[in-house]
Amino acid sequence: MPNRIIVGAQWGDEGKAKVVDYLTEDADYVIRFQGGANAGHTVEVGDQKFVFHLLPSGLMHPDKVCIIGNGVVLDPEQLLHEIEEVRVKGIDAQGRLWLSEAAQVVLPTHKILDQLKEKAAGKDAIGTTGRGIGPAYYDKVNRTGIRVGDLLEDGLREKLERTLAVHNEIITRLYNSAPVSVDTIYTEYRALGERLRPYIKDCVPLLSQALKQNKSLLFEGAQGTILDVDHGTYPFVTSSNTVAGAACTGSGVGPTAVQQVIGVVKAYTTRVGNGPFPTEISGGLGAELRRIGNEYGATTGRERRCGWFDAVVVRRAAMVNGLTHLAVTKLDVLDTFEELKLCVAYQLNGERVEHFPVSIARLEQVEPIYETMPGWKSDTTKILRYEDLPVNAKNYLQRLSELVDVPIGLLSLGPKRHETIRMGI
Ligand code: IMP
Repeated sequence: MPNRIIVGAQWGDEGKAKVVDYLTEDADYVIRFQGGANAGHTVEVGDQKFVFHLLPSGLMHPDKVCIIGNGVVLDPEQLLHEIEEVRVKGIDAQGRLWLSEAAQVVLPTHKILDQLKEKAAGKDAIGTTGRGIGPAYYDKVNRTGIRVGDLLEDGLREKLERTLAVHNEIITRLYNSAPVSVDTIYTEYRALGERLRPYIKDCVPLLSQALKQNKSLLFEGAQGTILDVDHGTYPFVTSSNTVAGAACTGSGVGPTAVQQVIGVVKAYTTRVGNGPFPTEISGGLGAELRRIGNEYGATTGRERRCGWFDAVVVRRAAMVNGLTHLAVTKLDVLDTFEELKLCVAYQLNGERVEHFPVSIARLEQVEPIYETMPGWKSDTTKILRYEDLPVNAKNYLQRLSELVDVPIGLLSLGPKRHETIRMGI
């Protein structure tokens, strides 16, 4: 089986967890490589529904090894909570969940700083999840972060003192808020480290060995391409690289190991948080999409902004990820619509623009150019074969794939595993 990277090709929430869960059948190892508890991965198995923020969703398959790679910012309390949540439902993580020693630890002060910064930013807020992601990555690149392996080492107290001293300066002086106690955090994180001890490992040799044994790897991306810190709508982005290349840096596996890169797209577009969104539909139709698609954030419960499929966005994603396939999700949400629009290009200062603008000042000024297609006005949720889809649904998918110039490898028509049509991957 090929080694695959699965990434979101829009603004996140594309339904990656469902696609990952489905394709995990083909894999031996499932690896998370970036982001943290800002992600919300919903998987439905039988009549049970699980929402993971940190755990790779591959854990639901009892024979798979799951890895949280070095590129992740890991909130130990949240992870232990999720491990416990699945344990009571009969799923044991021990012996098949490994956390990279080099992953960064999210501290309580990272969350405090994230929230204080957002509050102080007022109307310029990013609309973060408040999970401490930005400040944790800041400490990582500033070389003042605490790594998962540090939780078990003697130098932990000194490292925490150094890092928390700066956090407390910012909390008290810049934001006029109460400092945190280093003693309390040290005691807590020491204890959390002990509870995580059985899971902590140098994951690089483990993955290298797996490749030598011809095991199959599946890299599970979080967020989406247009939230990538380099390639997204900066500064309205998350703080990690969410694109396929990050699977290598965030796990310690070289790019030569990967054969497929699958971009997950919704058949329409959504976004949570602030920032430009050219094909957003305001008013009735947008609300209708939100209601039918149940578009509420899995992490924050916030309403997702909804809009038409934007081929300019996904063409960008095809380029920066090197997509080999698309996985199209939530086609069924469009079942009742009379007509559908596909954004094929933008209009900017009277000119047609084919490429997603790097500058958000320009992105804010674009007008989408749409093609309108007739809806299919029938229930697709029970359909098991592509051939059986209504002709208008097939035309819509064909046009979508053509506009992005990437073949569709998988189609999802509902949240359950069996509501999936595999198309050549
Ligand atoms: P942060 O990642 O919490 O710093 O938030 C930065 C931006 O990324 C905000 O617009 C969030 O709404 C967005 N974001 C972060 N994680 C996700 C996700 O898993 N799905 C969708 N949006 C996300």
